[in-house]
Amino acid sequence: MVVPGSHHREDKIYHPPEDLKKDAHVPDFYSYLALYKKSVDEPEVFWREVAAEFYWKKPATGPILQYNFDVTKGNIYVKCMEGAKTNMCYNVLDRNVKDRNLGEKVAYYWEGNSPDHSMAITYSQLLSQVCRCANVLKQMGVKKGDRVAIYMPMIPELVYTMLACARIGAVHSIVFAGYSSESLCERILDAQCCIVVTADGVYRGQKLINLKQIVEEALEKSRDKVSPTVTRCLVVKNHSLRTKSGEASNKLQIPWDAERDVWWDEVMADVSDDCEPEWLDAEDPLFILYTSGSTGKPKGVLHTVAGYMLYTSLTFKYVFDHHHDDVYWCTADIGWITGHSYITYGPLANGATGVLFEGLPVYPHVGRFWEIIEKYKVTKFYTAPTAIRLLMKYGKEPVQKYNLSSLRILGTVGEPINPEAWLWYYEVVGQSRCPVVDTFWQTETGGHVLTPLPAATPLKPGSATFPFFGVEPTILNEHGEELEGEAEGYLVFRRPWPGIMRTVYGNQERFENQYFKKFPGFYVTGDGCRRDKDGYYWITGRIDDMLNVSGHLMSTAEVEAALTKHAAVAEAAVVSRPHVVKGECLYCFVTLKDSREFNHKLVEELKGLVRERIGPIATPDFIQNAPGLPKTRSGKIMRRVLRQIARNEKDLGDLSTLADPKVVEVLFSQRCEAAA
Ligand code: WT7
Repeated sequence: MVVPGSHHREDKIYHPPEDLKKDAHVPDFYSYLALYKKSVDEPEVFWREVAAEFYWKKPATGPILQYNFDVTKGNIYVKCMEGAKTNMCYNVLDRNVKDRNLGEKVAYYWEGNSPDHSMAITYSQLLSQVCRCANVLKQMGVKKGDRVAIYMPMIPELVYTMLACARIGAVHSIVFAGYSSESLCERILDAQCCIVVTADGVYRGQKLINLKQIVEEALEKSRDKVSPTVTRCLVVKNHSLRTKSGEASNKLQIPWDAERDVWWDEVMADVSDDCEPEWLDAEDPLFILYTSGSTGKPKGVLHTVAGYMLYTSLTFKYVFDHHHDDVYWCTADIGWITGHSYITYGPLANGATGVLFEGLPVYPHVGRFWEIIEKYKVTKFYTAPTAIRLLMKYGKEPVQKYNLSSLRILGTVGEPINPEAWLWYYEVVGQSRCPVVDTFWQTETGGHVLTPLPAATPLKPGSATFPFFGVEPTILNEHGEELEGEAEGYLVFRRPWPGIMRTVYGNQERFENQYFKKFPGFYVTGDGCRRDKDGYYWITGRIDDMLNVSGHLMSTAEVEAALTKHAAVAEAAVVSRPHVVKGECLYCFVTLKDSREFNHKLVEELKGLVRERIGPIATPDFIQNAPGLPKTRSGKIMRRVLRQIARNEKDLGDLSTLADPKVVEVLFSQRCEAAA
């Protein structure tokens, strides 16, 4: 997607504020360039210095990075700090408590969906809860290497559970708690998880969601499949469903299987809070996180211990210019990579104080974000363009009601940010004193790969600017030729950095095909990119069959698969259409079977089906009846044409490859003006 207007105000440059430079880790652009040069010319020296800050049970014996990025020369692999032994949990907790004397420092301010619910958790308290949870998991039979599915709201127990897994060497697979039972089931089966950790329920705004029921349905569905793997289920009583006096403020019916299910509170009460970490190999898996794949089947992106630790820690430190007294808030959900890297691992590795927020930006009022920033005196704030565009709609007043003078740095992630939203963020939220770091990265990259550094990089609204340390981007044309200077094409990377994914879980072949086949020697992001005359990188959006709705990546294929499950649908084709808040939204063309009627009821059923099979984030905005789809003579759907119909772009260009050009006219005459 090319963001409307992204080519405008390119000439205006926003320079880092002077006061930020005084104590910044990278205080100017020359320092950035020097460090960047070192990171690519002498990666061994560069990363060895970074590694020196961590605790290693056994030091690395081999080089810091070993890899093959060229499919023509054998299997693709990346190894970081081979031979070393360490533990992520030890490094983000014990090291802070014991070696850095941060035990009494607040690790998280937790803020509930309701402003009445909040608590502070220190590093010592966090360590103690994590050790307890680790002991509980061990008692339940979880061992090193086992996969643990986590389906939880944004409550402290989610962090306890993921770190407990990291402590005992179990591999967490967190599934965003907005996904449907179908999606959860698919992920549990793919990773062969032996246990699910969940909560009874959660309030999202005023809506009460029965998470345990969804888990029940997922496990029910998995039972029909060849290998039912889940034998235990650990269930947190979400305290934010209760009133202050402890009464349940809801009437959730919690399905219960006494053989399988245990309440968190009961088992946590009588375990020790002492748990020796499992010393893992540097390349042992840390977690799996599923991301949409262009075939429709999600890919289990696998990250490993040492490289991910070095990379999330370093990017957090530099990109948010972290200092001891900061209060940092990332509004993402931990169910996405942003939460993994920049709510849990990166901030904790730096001994940071973070805000953990269970709720929504507009509940109970549209000033909730700003209220929380004022309440905790947040200094660094990280959110998504879709949230900014949503809040922009309510104007400046809800922002200006609060004191936001604590803010020093603003960040965005997830999708290209249009200059209008960038400027509103910069001027209204940041009062023109806070740089906006537009961080480009992916589930696969583990951490930021293109990003400004706040005190060093002159900003252009809408550009993710320059590569982070150790990252070497380049732009290729369709023939795989590298383009120099001002250019537009495929964004690829020439070599690995420590935090890049290692494989697709259980499917190395898919890993190689997806990311390395198209252009041998390069990691292919799937994004289009432009480099301007000053060398700034501008992400232009996905160039595969992927869509980005509110910062969530999904494939057209998975939505199409859901639509064609309906008995009335013969064929479906899904494309994106720009949306003022979501960035992109889903526009679906459905061809019905003979004798089926297209009506409002069907549209509702189709929407329901997509919500049920994928989740509410994938709900289509438009569903159009398509008596026929534009196809080539070989039967391939011409998505370009469908995209143009969805966008009402009349100039369709060359249609000579279409089997039946009349289809286009019919589709145009019936296109949806307003959302369904
Ligand atoms: C895709 C990755 C990385 C965490 C959240 C999404 C798009 C991400 C930006 C940005 C333009 C961006 C890309 C990328 N994207 N950040 N700053 N500017 N586009 O993780 O679900 O793995 O999605 O999100 O298209 O490939 P993800």
